[in-house]
Amino acid sequence: MARRAVLFGLATLLLTTGCPSPTSTLDPRGPAAARLADLWWLMFWLSIAVFVLVMGVLVYAVYRARRNRGSPPPLSDLKLIVGGGVIMPAIILVPLLVVTIRTSSALIPDAPVNALRIEVTSHQFWWEIHYPDHGVTTANEIHIPVGQPVKLLLHSADVIHSFWVPPLHGKLDLNPGHTNTLTLQADQVGVYRGLCAEYCGIQHALMHFMVIAEPADQFTAWLVRQRQPAPLPTTSLVQQGRQVYSAAGCASCHAIRGTDSLGTRGSVGPDLTHLASRRTLAAAVIENTRENLARWIRDPHSIKPGVRMPETNLDERSLNALLAYLETLR
Ligand code: CUA
Repeated sequence: MARRAVLFGLATLLLTTGCPSPTSTLDPRGPAAARLADLWWLMFWLSIAVFVLVMGVLVYAVYRARRNRGSPPPLSDLKLIVGGGVIMPAIILVPLLVVTIRTSSALIPDAPVNALRIEVTSHQFWWEIHYPDHGVTTANEIHIPVGQPVKLLLHSADVIHSFWVPPLHGKLDLNPGHTNTLTLQADQVGVYRGLCAEYCGIQHALMHFMVIAEPADQFTAWLVRQRQPAPLPTTSLVQQGRQVYSAAGCASCHAIRGTDSLGTRGSVGPDLTHLASRRTLAAAVIENTRENLARWIRDPHSIKPGVRMPETNLDERSLNALLAYLETLR
């Protein structure tokens, strides 16, 4: 168990640090994050200035007290209180308040009316991503066209979560029964890691997602592919895998568009119509490889303890057929 935990830790570390995407609020890649970073630097340098000033006064006070032992202080108590406790803070804090209010109001969503709309629904412990004007549903990956503001409609299916992509925007909560909106824009092509920033349960720390900003033509091509229903099986192994999917009850939680004949279309877990086209599994925590997918299906709790996905006890043959089927969902 300990060895497994260490291996998993290393894999996660590799996956997160090996990823070339920026993850810092101080490395902004969009207009909202740039404003927040500017505010951060202003506060940082102001606090450095205050620190240096206070330390200077302190050193001077110690030096002066040693030299002029017994003589009265140069400033009265009242002057010190008014000067250091009222005037100085006002000079520093009032402009800072004005700048903060201006930054906050600049972050209020102002996406153009024809901006792309994306619904983000948080679940314990994954992200449902829906493009309502295009009939596309995916999970844990938000594709957006680079350089364009998109309008995110954020809500939660269960508890309070928080949406945060540090290089693109400040965080915003997702609440059950209420929709928050956020205008997201990436000015550079790239893959940006996002995370849940509000404690929401046992797997809160591993509730990640990706924002994939791509050129408009690539984005459109992605959207067109995602709109397609799942392909029908073309080999007997894949056909068998599709039957395993149905028999094992996967459809009671997941949906694969184009497989309505297999029974119900679940909405508890991620839509799997184009599962194989995604980069990661398990809320952007493990790479989407055959080995990881097999591990995830067999025993998801070994990867994310407390996750809602139940373990399955498929025999080797059924699992292989199921994997072959899921791999066709590109
Ligand atoms: Cu979802 Cu923390």
